[in-house]
Amino acid sequence: MLRPAWLEINLSALADNVHNLQSVLSPHQQIIAVVKANAYGHGAVPVSRVALGAGAERLAVAIVEEAVELRADGCTAPVMCLGATPPEVAPVLVEQHIEAPLTDLTGARALSEAACAAGTTAPVHIKIDTGMHRLGVRAEEIGPFCEALRELPGLEIVGVFTHFSSSQIDPEFTLAQLATFRTAVAEAEQALGFRIPLRHVCNSGATVRYPEAWLDAVRPGALLYGIPRDRGGLYMPEMRSVLALKARLAVIKPLYAGESVGYDRTWSAPHDTRLGLLSLGYGDGYDRLLSNRGHVLVQGRQCGIIGRICMDTTMVDLTNVPEAQVGDTAVLVGEQGGERIRVHDLADLCDTVVQETVSRFSSRLPRVYYAEPGDERVYNALAERRSLLSDAPLRDRANSCQHG
Ligand SMILES: Cc1ncc(COP(=O)(O)O)c(C=O)c1O
Repeated sequence: MLRPAWLEINLSALADNVHNLQSVLSPHQQIIAVVKANAYGHGAVPVSRVALGAGAERLAVAIVEEAVELRADGCTAPVMCLGATPPEVAPVLVEQHIEAPLTDLTGARALSEAACAAGTTAPVHIKIDTGMHRLGVRAEEIGPFCEALRELPGLEIVGVFTHFSSSQIDPEFTLAQLATFRTAVAEAEQALGFRIPLRHVCNSGATVRYPEAWLDAVRPGALLYGIPRDRGGLYMPEMRSVLALKARLAVIKPLYAGESVGYDRTWSAPHDTRLGLLSLGYGDGYDRLLSNRGHVLVQGRQCGIIGRICMDTTMVDLTNVPEAQVGDTAVLVGEQGGERIRVHDLADLCDTVVQETVSRFSSRLPRVYYAEPGDERVYNALAERRSLLSDAPLRDRANSCQHG
């Protein structure tokens, strides 16, 4: 039985987004689908399967455990870790053929030793710090670093990458980072004596804005889930939203003029009010900052969130939807009756980024996966995991259509 609050994941929309992105890239440019943090809350296994099935060549995660989860599901595609990999996990990386970021010589030595001990190679991407000042070898130190790598057997250098700090807001800094990257890669290749096969720098913000930075591969997360504010643009077809958050109205009751609702009494009814309760809250990752600020859709109409969002309950004002009934579906993210609430609407109200909003949706919310009718891409990609697909959202959509 489905809990009456759930996330719907449209795997056909995800496949379309991969396909849309691929349609603007050159044939040699690869897509590295970023599926860290449980694919930004969408579910790492089904998302990875569908992204690969739709044309992504590679996957990127943050931590080793996430890569191991994909390998356990039978994924044989290249999977890279974006985050720092501690030296002690080098044997796991080598054994599972997980691509590690090379960020210092200690890590490089650990990987070299693990590869030699296993009689194989360790696939790695050199990470260059071009101005983010987070992970990576400083650009001006890349020559000596690569000289030192030449002394380490067993490393297979498959890629080189950097990360932009401000690709959505600062073209000058972003292009300066790109220029620094190009210079550093030239120095790295001179020191190594060969061309590094895969150069990649673009997160979603840069993928949308800077085609000159697509290089050998792009590395988007948010764009594939259709959640950034700029889901398309000059160089990109419009991306589709993949995720919707819904809940059924659990209780409807009156709140009389002057009465307050919820913790700390932050909202009082200015007049007799129809109060609706939804059985989800901040314990599900629905941000408490949306209290008295956010909206949900009921019967295709906006209903304000009133009072403080609780751990397990959210209260909404149904006064303007007199026909709403217990059991009706409320949309917290998604579309209903021509109205729409986007992930970035929530993110804006919470003063955060879309990536945080979706990655915080907790495991307590069931994920309901579906494909649009006849979408063989999704069925084939899920193969023996096809049982993950549900027809519940189709029923739900039929239900919400009935009510307009
Ligand atoms: C190194 C790196 N590359 C790519 C991405 C994908 O970012 P986005 O979701 O903005 O596309 C991230 C996400 O934080 C990242 O850390």
